[in-house]
Amino acid sequence: MRLVIDTDPGVDDALAIMMAHAFPGCRIEALTVVGGNVGLDMTLRNAGFLKDTLAADFAIYPGCGRGLCWQPENAAFVHGEDGFGDVLEGQPEAAPEQEHAASALVRLAQENPGELTLVTIGPLTNVALALRLEPRLPELYQRLVVMGGAVTGRGNVSNISAEFNIYTDPEAAHIVFSEWPFFELADWEATMVHQFTFAALDEWLTSGSPSAQLYARICGQVRKFVAESEPQDPKMRAADALAMAMTLEPASVLESAERHVAVGLAPGMTRGMTVVDWNKRTGRPANARILQRFDQARFEALIRQGLS
Ligand code: RIB
Ligand code: CA
Repeated sequence: MRLVIDTDPGVDDALAIMMAHAFPGCRIEALTVVGGNVGLDMTLRNAGFLKDTLAADFAIYPGCGRGLCWQPENAAFVHGEDGFGDVLEGQPEAAPEQEHAASALVRLAQENPGELTLVTIGPLTNVALALRLEPRLPELYQRLVVMGGAVTGRGNVSNISAEFNIYTDPEAAHIVFSEWPFFELADWEATMVHQFTFAALDEWLTSGSPSAQLYARICGQVRKFVAESEPQDPKMRAADALAMAMTLEPASVLESAERHVAVGLAPGMTRGMTVVDWNKRTGRPANARILQRFDQARFEALIRQGLS
């Protein structure tokens, strides 16, 4: 499996990338980086730290620093001001390429037609631009897996029905959802169903691997946010890790539904909402396989492997 990962690292992005790097038979060809959790300068820096930590050879391509039409709040309150828990000093060894992410998304697919899987774990700005550069893009990628949305309106941003990746650039999501004939979707609601305990995470982190050491350092702010926002029974949630698990091991998807998913664009409280035709009333063909249940034991095993 050869992956291109479009990402706004981000603590859960880091875990997803570690899972892919550790998965037997999986090769990360590139990270195309977008602004989102925090600004592009920081998401690029964090991508570099990941490349250093993993001693990986994937290329890093700089993408868009803001959405096509607006730039709402970021997620620094969850991930830290630098997106990695505000614990790392200086700059990574690994530097990004000169080529823009949108151009790289097109070129890599044209050079490897039908060979690459595209996983998006941030706002979809880069992918929307790549579609404008090359409308045949969906024919050139083998699969598209998207982390995004809240399929019954239980979101995680100020527009309560929307999820961060879609809300950060609804126009980009609209372009991708309406022009990519069929993709796989792991949403925020599935993420909340597939949480894991801090105790399990701490056990996995005892591996002492470079990945475990980095993740242990950068996840402090996220753990603090979760513990403060859900003091009763705080558990870790990692949206991008779930999308990556679905990418790496589709056979471990226990329940899914194929439906048409659209994106709310109008200003106001539905902007960024993912509107699912659950009762198939629009007559529009399904454009997404929506993850509903993943084998939790396999999900946790994939995370453990990523931290090993
Ligand atoms: O809503 C969760 C998504 O937003 C994840 O991709 C997380 O990294 C943030 O970007
Ligand atoms: Ca992300």
